[in-house]
Amino acid sequence: MKFGYFDDDRREYVITTPETPLPWINYLGCSDFFSLISNTMGGYSFYKDAKLLRITRYRYNDVPLDINGKYFYVKDGDTIWNPGFKPTQTPLDEYECRHGIGYSRFTGKKNDVKASVLSFVPLGDSCEIQRVTLTNEGSAAKDIQLFSYVEWCLWNADEDPRNFQRNLSTGEIEVKGSTIYHKTEYRERRNHFAIYSVNTEVDGFDTSRDEFMGSYNRGGANPLAVEEGKARNSMASGWYPIASHQINVSLAAGESKTFVFVLGYCENPDDDKWESYGVINKKPADALLAKYQTTEDVDKAFDALCTYWDELLTKYTVQSSNDKVNRMVNIWNQYQCMVTFNMSRSASYYESGIGRGMGFRDSCQDLLGFVHLIPERARQRIIDIASTQFEDGSAYHQYQPLTKKGNSDIGSGFNDDPLWLIAGTSAYVRESGDTTILDEMVPFDNDESKATPLMNHLKRSFDYIVTHRGPHNLPLIGRADWNDCLNLNCHSLHPGESFQTFGPSEGPVAESVFIGGMFVKYGLEYADLCELMGDQAEADRAKKEVEEMKKILLTAGWDGDWFVRAYDSSSNKVGSKECEEGQIYIEPQGFCVLAGVGVETGEAIKALDSVKEKLDTDYGIMILQPAYTRYHEELGEVSSYPPGYKENAGIFCHNNPWVSIAETVVGRGDRAFEIYKKTCPAYVEEFSEIHRTEPYVYSQMVAGRDAKFHGEGKNSWLTGTAAWTFVNISQYILGVYPTHKGLQIDPCVPDGFGDFTITRKFREGTYNITVKNPNGVQKGVARMTVDGQEVEGCIVPYEKGKETYEVEITMG
Ligand code: GLC
Ligand code: GLC
Repeated sequence: MKFGYFDDDRREYVITTPETPLPWINYLGCSDFFSLISNTMGGYSFYKDAKLLRITRYRYNDVPLDINGKYFYVKDGDTIWNPGFKPTQTPLDEYECRHGIGYSRFTGKKNDVKASVLSFVPLGDSCEIQRVTLTNEGSAAKDIQLFSYVEWCLWNADEDPRNFQRNLSTGEIEVKGSTIYHKTEYRERRNHFAIYSVNTEVDGFDTSRDEFMGSYNRGGANPLAVEEGKARNSMASGWYPIASHQINVSLAAGESKTFVFVLGYCENPDDDKWESYGVINKKPADALLAKYQTTEDVDKAFDALCTYWDELLTKYTVQSSNDKVNRMVNIWNQYQCMVTFNMSRSASYYESGIGRGMGFRDSCQDLLGFVHLIPERARQRIIDIASTQFEDGSAYHQYQPLTKKGNSDIGSGFNDDPLWLIAGTSAYVRESGDTTILDEMVPFDNDESKATPLMNHLKRSFDYIVTHRGPHNLPLIGRADWNDCLNLNCHSLHPGESFQTFGPSEGPVAESVFIGGMFVKYGLEYADLCELMGDQAEADRAKKEVEEMKKILLTAGWDGDWFVRAYDSSSNKVGSKECEEGQIYIEPQGFCVLAGVGVETGEAIKALDSVKEKLDTDYGIMILQPAYTRYHEELGEVSSYPPGYKENAGIFCHNNPWVSIAETVVGRGDRAFEIYKKTCPAYVEEFSEIHRTEPYVYSQMVAGRDAKFHGEGKNSWLTGTAAWTFVNISQYILGVYPTHKGLQIDPCVPDGFGDFTITRKFREGTYNITVKNPNGVQKGVARMTVDGQEVEGCIVPYEKGKETYEVEITMG
């Protein structure tokens, strides 16, 4: 069952009922100012950092779901309604939400009045614009009232639920004309304030939530000021500051009126904060508002945003006979990659924005699906991430986007982290050809006195694995590797302890086969970078280490039919036939094989066949089987989840593409594509009532076979699945893979996929690629021509400055 449909021409998902199984959200904003917005206009905004600079307030995990947003109320006689249905939930005569690329549109209609709202964050300015058009579609004149509503967050979202004994006394506002200024804490340590304004004279305003809503059993669903059609002109002092405008609107039959609302973030220099005592210097706000005074201003800014995305989305486009593939590759998968790049794991409807901030491993992986869009931003991100590395090569697991400093409450010791830095850097250099990044001086632990070239950071990443080995010569796992919940050193027995950071969680024995697989993959990419920089000796050393690791993986890391997952702190196998539960895990099967381990000697095929036999379901591949049915102190959080959820035998979508990529490495296009399809939103849309999360983006997890609600998605949007799936479909299945020498084109497709064309912008060139598959093979390039000339192999040699390449590939 569906709750909407894809409108590919407009690159929108059109939601046709407000009553979706869960709030279905979108993200507005490309760089500094961001908003989350649901299909009922719930959500919030922040500037750069969802924890430290939260602009509007949100209540997580509450009932009913999705409370607080940027709402508009229409009062038409005795009827009060919202164009996005909530919070009044007055049934609408018409409802539509169109989530587009960086914008959302809402249309609600009630009793002949239509309200259309377009919300977006314009390029280059720190604000959200809402263009609201009211139309009288009836035959009689109407006198109605429009109320806006946002609730200010007192900046630090972490303090909102924790320190309200203070917060309830600090809220301060200022009102001038149609602009409401939020200036909590501006008197002392802040030099920023927020504004909410509209481009017309208002008939009233409110800034005190209690006065706007009224007390006792009243809330957003039935605010008193709206009910009475009369704003209080309240001036908040402490408690809960809000911003609401009242506009009385007369509409002749057929008439439309449009209003432009701007919710903005402004800063002043420290020594120029005031206009007079206690009165904000409003120059930055005036300048911002001056840019968005008319509908024409807004249309221009909106066109610029659309053009920006048109341009970005021409970097990689495919035209194949499969509409779902075209839709995901050309639109939604790349869009989600941009969002995960911007947000990491900080702000979604499942991540509070006050918790994890930017993840070291997460952001390095997010880069993989983003780097082709804006390589310069990926470059800066790599430097920010590398700056949180320690001198010994380990790294802070997370950092705060505003301060860019590592979070010391979680610290380091996640032993896969160092290698992801190589992954991200290698992807950037292969994409851009820019080796200057490797010479860039980058600090350790943000201490500039300890700066060293980025290449040296990568060496330390590599050596961290070389020098941290356990009894089987496999890499030590530390607090956890990619699987945050496999906590082999922690042994937590008391509620409230962190599974990852409690106790001596970095033992000398527990080992990870998965990190071994990563070491093979990224050790070789490190060696390639060394060669590129002319350091053959270091490249040879790296390759030698990788060769040895391969041998270890095929001995101590091999269980007979699949790769072992790990060795625990007593040196017992995890993910082996010998285990009582959790006998096979997905991660080492996917990663070892995609790294090429066991491809020549047969283990690779065996491991992938075992995955199919033991872990596959209709909704994707489960992370492990059999599920843990009791708590295993020696394994940690993984066994704390009920069977079928999250890391305990859920379908963790992130590592499904690893297996799909591995299948392309062994040339099985049918199986690679079958795996791709199972979690692919465009396919999943058909059973939205089971999947429940947004049908246009990936979720972190789908409940596994052991779960009560098998097939149900959870934690949509912020997941490494976006980047890895884009890598899978664009670089492995469709086969356009950037190398240091040029674009390699080596597709691996299912039977019947047919011919297809791809346009790929790579460095200064545009590559028009035609792939022909006359004999319907799944993999193999029989012939390649570049500008009509036959070229050996399947790498299109890069020529500096060359602008167009006509490439024809014949599979066979
Ligand atoms: C979450 C984390 C990620 C981790 C994964 C598996 O998605 O953000 O870092 O690898 O869970 O535990
Ligand atoms: C990852 C896992 C989650 C775990 C968390 C701990 O996000 O997916 O299950 O609770 O890490 O940090």
